Amino acid sequence: MTHSLMPLSGTKEEIYIQLLPQLQHLVRDEENHIANLANITAALKSALGFFWVGFYLVEGPWLVLGPFQGELACTRIARGKGVCGKAWEKQQVLIVDDVDKFDGHIACSSKSRSEIVVPVISSNRVIAVIDVDSEQLAAFDNVDRRYLTEIADLVAGLPGLKAF
Ligand code: SME
Repeated sequence: MTHSLMPLSGTKEEIYIQLLPQLQHLVRDEENHIANLANITAALKSALGFFWVGFYLVEGPWLVLGPFQGELACTRIARGKGVCGKAWEKQQVLIVDDVDKFDGHIACSSKSRSEIVVPVISSNRVIAVIDVDSEQLAAFDNVDRRYLTEIADLVAGLPGLKAF
């Protein structure tokens, strides 16, 4: 099945608002979660111009790299390590304005300056995280927190996605 995004414009919040129903539409008829996560990362990258956006999927004590858009990335992150592992451990969104000031930040790319990580929670368990990196300092705010959390909720309900 072919898909394309409708043109998106306006402020970051307006773009998220236009994007959300399109993401819901995008995943509606597909039951394979890898295909769905891959298309969600592509849509986020093209709509919002993120430097790096991707999923890490929970597998035992690890977050394992899933579908993403951007430069090569670390494949495994232990629970509690890095921004991703901390967001998993705390089960909460983490916004880091300056990654150099985050104790234990894992630098997959030296170009990344700020980051947001949003846990995907299903039945009170983190099953994945959404990680977004920017080349700019302090690129993420409560608008990203709100809409990436809505996207995480959409992802939590996808068939086939569970923690291993
Ligand atoms: N910076 C992350 C690692 C993943 S990459 O940014 C893609 C972290 O500290 O968990």
